[in-house]
Amino acid sequence: MTPRVDGDRMRRDFDTLSSFGATPEGGVSRPTFSEAHLAARQWFLNRAKAEGLGTGVDSAGNHSALLHARNRNASVLLLGSHLDSVPEGGRFDGAIGVVAALHVLLAIKAAGIDLPFNLEAIDFTDEEGTLMGLLGSEALAGTLTPEALQSPRGGRDALLAGLERAALREDRLHEARRDPATLVGYLELHIEQGQRLERERVQIGVVTRIVGSRSFRIVVRGLGGHAGTMPMDARRDAAVAAARIILAAREIVVRDFPDSVITVGDLRLEPAAFNVVAGLARLSLEFRSQHDADLDAIESAIFARFHADSQADGIDLEVTQVARWQPTVLDPSMIEAIERVAGGLRLTTTRLPSSAGHDAQALAPVIPTGMIFVPSIGGVSHDPREETAWEDVVNGANVLLGTVIELSRRRVMG
Ligand code: GLV
Ligand code: MN
Ligand code: MN
Repeated sequence: MTPRVDGDRMRRDFDTLSSFGATPEGGVSRPTFSEAHLAARQWFLNRAKAEGLGTGVDSAGNHSALLHARNRNASVLLLGSHLDSVPEGGRFDGAIGVVAALHVLLAIKAAGIDLPFNLEAIDFTDEEGTLMGLLGSEALAGTLTPEALQSPRGGRDALLAGLERAALREDRLHEARRDPATLVGYLELHIEQGQRLERERVQIGVVTRIVGSRSFRIVVRGLGGHAGTMPMDARRDAAVAAARIILAAREIVVRDFPDSVITVGDLRLEPAAFNVVAGLARLSLEFRSQHDADLDAIESAIFARFHADSQADGIDLEVTQVARWQPTVLDPSMIEAIERVAGGLRLTTTRLPSSAGHDAQALAPVIPTGMIFVPSIGGVSHDPREETAWEDVVNGANVLLGTVIELSRRRVMG
């Protein structure tokens, strides 16, 4: 008989995990290397140790629980996600993937199954990008570049301070790389973060591809001055220029790229006072598409418009690219294995693309990678209201477990 995860124990672990960085609104705030994040990661290792699993932390800070095969030299199947969150985020994003991975190891251990591979539940460092984004998974995949480390999304100073807090060394991050020949593949359970599964009343989403995205920091320089005495026609107002950028970005994407999205999620004015015209604005900008050609076209169109508008307004723009992630296709045999397992558990499935980024997109270019989605209530995510019915999380965890066993059979047979 196929083993199952213990849904009640998994719930208790999830609730404990949700207490790290818990917010009054019912979510969690665990930005990378914050006290709450580091405590959550330590809890994960302690929990694994208490269950008699092996543990490890690599030079990129990825935290792992290990269930060894009898043959310790066998390759490794990775299961995981991330324990960091966006600021003021939800409890489920990333966390269920790590807790479920841990409980898959526990279920296989309890059933006494000797797999033909080692099984590793991994909590990747900084998936969300408060510092860089996909830092741990790219380090493991061997795709983390020195250039990307120079201009991270959260700023270079924050990255260096964060690495120091976590006792990690920038010059050793790349040592987390694993030879793909030593890895069987990667599986990640995650909430959908959209509304499709809920609308279609489907229990399990099988992810086919993951959106690509590009992120930029823009500094807008105008002219500061007295908010009472500076005539309107003499102004080079950085706040107005930033507003123009935000509206132009939206207009271009909605009109010409209806399948893409663009977001300014951070906007700061300086010096930031009622009675001072802003001389400077800082914006974050990111856009996403499933197609690389659209990302190129959006980039050309928006920056041509931003530069033309700011030139006309006497505004200076400084643009820095801070992340670039390719749209990624997941492995067809993983997709088929997940579907087969979900079908065997009498769960309904549909194939769907992911509009959110995931560690899976860092691993898919180097090893066979699959993702399982479970429904998000109301499609809400990156928000404390994020919610998934526990029964759906348990279903997803059992599909993850079943897929591990399915892959072990294929490995033995193949
Ligand atoms: C991660 O959740 C992202 O899509 O930004
Ligand atoms: Mn996530
Ligand atoms: Mn997220």
